Amino acid sequence: MAPDLSAALRQRVERSVGAYRSRFGLDPTWVGWGPGRVNLIGEHTDYNQGLAMPAAIDRWVVVALGAGPDGQLVVRGEDFDDECTLALGRPAPSHAPSWQRYAAGCVAELAALQPLRTGLQAVVAGDVPLGAGLSSSAAVEMAWLNVLRLASGAQLSGLELAQAAQRVEHRHLGLASGLLDQLASQFSRVHRLMVVDFESLEIRWVPAGLPRWTWVVVESGVRRELAASAYRDRVAECQLGLALARGSDAELRGYRGLGASHLELLERQGHALVAQRLGHVMDENQRVLAMERALASGDAAGAGALLCASHASLRDLYQVSCAELDALVELCIAWPGCAGARMVGGGFGGCVLALVQVDAAQGLPAYLARAYAPRFPHRLRSWQFALVGGAGAVRWEG
Ligand code: GLA
Repeated sequence: MAPDLSAALRQRVERSVGAYRSRFGLDPTWVGWGPGRVNLIGEHTDYNQGLAMPAAIDRWVVVALGAGPDGQLVVRGEDFDDECTLALGRPAPSHAPSWQRYAAGCVAELAALQPLRTGLQAVVAGDVPLGAGLSSSAAVEMAWLNVLRLASGAQLSGLELAQAAQRVEHRHLGLASGLLDQLASQFSRVHRLMVVDFESLEIRWVPAGLPRWTWVVVESGVRRELAASAYRDRVAECQLGLALARGSDAELRGYRGLGASHLELLERQGHALVAQRLGHVMDENQRVLAMERALASGDAAGAGALLCASHASLRDLYQVSCAELDALVELCIAWPGCAGARMVGGGFGGCVLALVQVDAAQGLPAYLARAYAPRFPHRLRSWQFALVGGAGAVRWEG
């Protein structure tokens, strides 16, 4: 067992191992884990070669794995009290529950890079809140891919694993997502925030800063039903904007080369909406760098203002917010001791992230619940997280 597993992670690992023993009657041979993530700032920038500031959180998905029947992938989804037997290396049927499509997709993508020598049997269990915008999907993918890399002996880098996970999203789940979630889950470091540059794929790790402040995640209770199609629309709008800008500037190197003059030209050409989308991305990139400076200099008010500006931009320019998220952000901002808040993740539901003084954080959930209940029927959940290291895998030795 790796000596540096935290007590919290070890507890999750032991749960999956115990479930594997109950189901298969022996210990697993390998165990892999992937954490969920929160993104402080830099939203809808990853697929636009932009910047973001994510970190992994102390919630994990753990896959306990062993050799299984030839040609088969037998998986128990502990949290769903469900089980499936699939053809090894093949996609799951399109009507299968998503946890099965993730499992089959990860195995298929890994098998495309490195032949698997045996069938596989596994138990998947985790505690990353589902559908809350904390990327339980990347946690599942990175847990699977790390354990499969170890089990198969594939010589693949963490980046290659993250890219394989992105292919799982694209090919097996039909989602057009960027690399934010997978890179955060794979490369996070304890007590650090990541500054990810999606043009160069370089990552810097910076201290979390602001010791007397904490980050509170509040789940709106709104399922993100609109998210997948709106997400595809935003990806397409940004691609169109770049193609149009290139039409008038053959030297333009990519999204990061865009400037105010390109946006003005797009507007003059009648593409105001596309200019608006790209305007969000350009401003949001600047806010990531400004957030890094605010955290480094202990400027909580500045950090809070950046969150609020990000939210306004996501609401008004990128248009991926919803009434519940807007209301929650306003309520958070009105709470004494909250420096700022914004929606996080793809949008149209999911979570709000607030920067709150440690002493003021305890009362926040009850206050929010009281103020939210008369306006919306959803139940709120909220969390504070520790920032943890990235995904990994070990040979299980008990
Ligand atoms: C989802 C996607 C990410 C990213 C965010 C928005 O979480 O999976 O790739 O695009 O939305 O920042």
